[in-house]
Amino acid sequence: MEDSIEVILQDPGWFLPHYRDNSLLATLGGAALTASYGLWTMFVLPGFRKVPMRLKVPYLPSSAKQTANVMKLLEGRRGRLADLGSGDGRLVFAACSAGFQCTGFEINSILLAYSRRKAKWKGIPPTQVNFVSKDFWTSDVSKYRNVTVFLAPGVMEELGEKLIRELPRESQVIACRFSFLTWPSASTEGSGLDQVWAYDIDSIRRLAPVMSKPSTLPAKLHF
Ligand SMILES: C[S@@+](CC[C@H](N)C(=O)[O-])C[C@H]1O[C@@H](n2cnc3c(N)ncnc32)[C@H](O)[C@@H]1O
Repeated sequence: MEDSIEVILQDPGWFLPHYRDNSLLATLGGAALTASYGLWTMFVLPGFRKVPMRLKVPYLPSSAKQTANVMKLLEGRRGRLADLGSGDGRLVFAACSAGFQCTGFEINSILLAYSRRKAKWKGIPPTQVNFVSKDFWTSDVSKYRNVTVFLAPGVMEELGEKLIRELPRESQVIACRFSFLTWPSASTEGSGLDQVWAYDIDSIRRLAPVMSKPSTLPAKLHF
């Protein structure tokens, strides 16, 4: 049950039983299924239909190494954490195990149901882990001191502007695989597809004063 979504996406054998030994057909079948699933989620699922075309990001799960790299960069931090586009919740569950109060924003209803069920099955109370059916582009993220994102290169600039506007001074943003190109990172972990970067919002804001609109919430509310 736990990995059923990935199993369906990664094992084309379930619908090509007679071609199990034909790796080319299996690969093509898997690619076609993954592409159709991606298109279906992005254009048919109700939550996704409302997201402008240029901001649509499909589901791709982070690797175990990538998640471990994020956890290294989160060491020594605490408080609320938001994963913008939480997928099957794997990053949220890892951060919850490290003591963060986590919120996963997700608009794919299948992934949302899966992660909520997993949280229930693990017996994690909603005060520790909460998966919300919300488009993060239209959500206020100003109460989070820790934000993780694994999205797509084309949305990073616009996302950066939103985060600079909304996040409290002491926030840290961790970007997975795709960095914020114009932001200097405070630290990084890993390499290649598993690389992740940490950004200190206060430093970034000082470098981009025109884009700054600090949160109006007092800092103590964010702990
Ligand atoms: C590349 S996946 C990352 C999943 C997860 N964070 C991980 O690391 O495994 C991006 C996720 O963002 C979700 N997503 C895309 N646009 C969104 C939006 N506007 N609001 C909420 N979730 C969104 C997708 O459904 C997908 O699950």
